[in-house]
This record gives sequence, structure tokens and C-alpha cells, in this order.
Amino acid sequence: MELRLDRIPRSVELARAGDEILFSYVDERLLPEELLVRQTGSWEEVVDAIKTLAVRGAPAIGLAGAAALVLWVSRAESLAAIEEVAEKIATARPTAVNLRWGVERVLEAAKAEAATERGPACVADALYALVSEMQEEDERVNREMGSNGAQLLPSGARVLTHCNAGSLATCYYGTALGVVYAAAEQGKIERVYADETRPVGQGARLTTWELARAGVPVTLICDNMAASLMAQGEVDAVVVGADRIAANGDTANKIGTYGVAVLAREHGIPFYVVAPTSTIDPTLPDGSGIVVEQRDPSEVLPRAIDGVEVWNPAFDVTPARYITKIVTERGVFDPADILGE
Ligand code: MRU
Repeated sequence: MELRLDRIPRSVELARAGDEILFSYVDERLLPEELLVRQTGSWEEVVDAIKTLAVRGAPAIGLAGAAALVLWVSRAESLAAIEEVAEKIATARPTAVNLRWGVERVLEAAKAEAATERGPACVADALYALVSEMQEEDERVNREMGSNGAQLLPSGARVLTHCNAGSLATCYYGTALGVVYAAAEQGKIERVYADETRPVGQGARLTTWELARAGVPVTLICDNMAASLMAQGEVDAVVVGADRIAANGDTANKIGTYGVAVLAREHGIPFYVVAPTSTIDPTLPDGSGIVVEQRDPSEVLPRAIDGVEVWNPAFDVTPARYITKIVTERGVFDPADILGE
């Protein structure tokens, strides 16, 4: 299989089209059947895309939230109106801290602009420039995490991952899959095992598609096969992303991650979390304060059954003690030292 990293998809982008500013996004609800890039100038559509998982993944929704606010600022008539919409965008999904982080970066800049005498066109230019910088920063940070994390993997690595923490979950390149791409460039990746990641199938639909497209050998497994695969000695490392990391290293990530971490510990396999510092929430001493999003029962049970209730949390929290290292753009850390310099 030929490595084709030039085929890594770009999932979200704020761009100019003539005088207009438009947000482009891969509609991930349609993958792997169809690669459709939608374009919109409506912040409401961006919020809907975030809620319905057309745009998903912590860094990608952070950028999308920032972009949505830029789209609104050019129409808003007052700072109060900007703040009101900023709150609606920031609360579109509760768990990934990156969403509020992205919105607040634009909100702070909008407030600073409001304090000047500059006209709306200049304000829009300034905020557009900020989001463009955030996009570049996302790719740079992902590449740095990739090179920091790749050094943890042995040559001939067989890596298990959960959910999609790839280019499709960021602006470009990915967090956990960024490590895979960097290691693949060094010739170290034998294979990636992708958990299907019930109920929405981000592993089955997205990680498999993204890796196959980039020419990285990938094998899909059902979530309940990971234990057996590990017991057979087929996994050298687990590499996952994160949606929010508390000050003590407890990490929220896609539902099922905690189980994989416990299995990895039982089998003596290192468990690595890869996330930018924007995913760290220093205000939370530990993971008990992380709000876990509850999603619609129909994701688990498409046709309701009378008398049957469904529990559908989108995330779980892996206690820091199960995490071997956390990789950020700043380096490789013991979970307890994640706030350290
Ligand atoms: O519900 P999603 O698909 O937005 O879930 C978020 C994630 O993509 C994952 O939890 C991922 O592993 C971390 S984000 C890079």
C-alpha cells in the first residue's frame, strides 16, 4: 500500500469567496459513501452541523464555532447581540472544551474591535485574519504532536485507535492520527486497528476511510473485539484523542475509550492520549466535573421499542491512572504533570 499523505482530507475551513466570507466543511454524516464539501455563510447552519455531527471532533468544532461567530459578527447590530449568539454557539455541544475556547477567542477580538472606531468591514477583516491564524495554528500544532508522539511508537507498530481523531476531527492532519501519519512517514506503522466506535461509527465510517485514503494499512474491528486482539499480542500501543483533559490528567473522550484503557492496562499495552493544549481545562481539578453530552436514543436504537429506554452518553472519562502519557504540542507528559511547563 503506497503512503499518500497528500490525500489527507481538510475538514473545515473559513475562506473568502469574493467579498463574502464562507465556511466550508466536509459533511461527515455522508462519509464514507460520499465526500461532500458544503459551504455556508450562516452561523445557524454551522451550529446545526456541529449538533448533528456533520462537523465533529474537538479541534474541528472549536474552529467551526470560531468561524460561526465571524459569520454572525458582520450581521450583528450590537455587542450584546454578538455575545448572545456566541453563547448559543459555545453551548451547541457541552463536552469538548475546544468549542468554547474557539468562540471566546473570536469574542474577545470582537470586543477589542468594538472599542475602536473601525468600520464593520475592517472588523470582519480582523476577525477573518484571526480565524485564518487559528487554522494554521491547528495544523502546526497537530504536526508537532505528530512528531512528539511518533517517537513513542516502536518500528513495525500495530496501533489501536478509538473514534476518529484524524484530519476529519481537526482542521488538518489530526491528533491521534497525526501521530500515526508522522510515524508512517518514518516507516514505523505496520497497521492501525480502528474500533468501529458505536453508536455513530466514527471509527467504522471515518477513521477507516481517512486512513485508507492516505495509504495507511487499516483493519476495522467491532468495539467488543479489542480485548481478544490485545490478548493475541496484536496491539503494540493504543493512541486516542481527547475532548477535555482535567488538571489531574483525567481525560474525556468518545464513549468506549475508558474500556479500551482498562484493557490496555490489563495487557501491558501503553495507552497514549494525544491532544492540543486547547483541550486542557485547568479549571477542573479532575474528571468528575466534566459534563458528558447525552445524545438522542435513536443513535442507539433507530426504531424505538415500547418500554425500552436507551442510555446514550457520547463520552466517558478515563482516569489518569490508566493513561501512560499525554502528548501535546509542547511535549510528552505524565498525566499528573499535564499543567507543568
Ligand atoms: O462526537 P464526536 O465525534 O465529536 O467525538 C469527539 C471525537 O472526535 C473524539 O472523542 C476524538 O477522539 C477526540 S477529538 C480529536
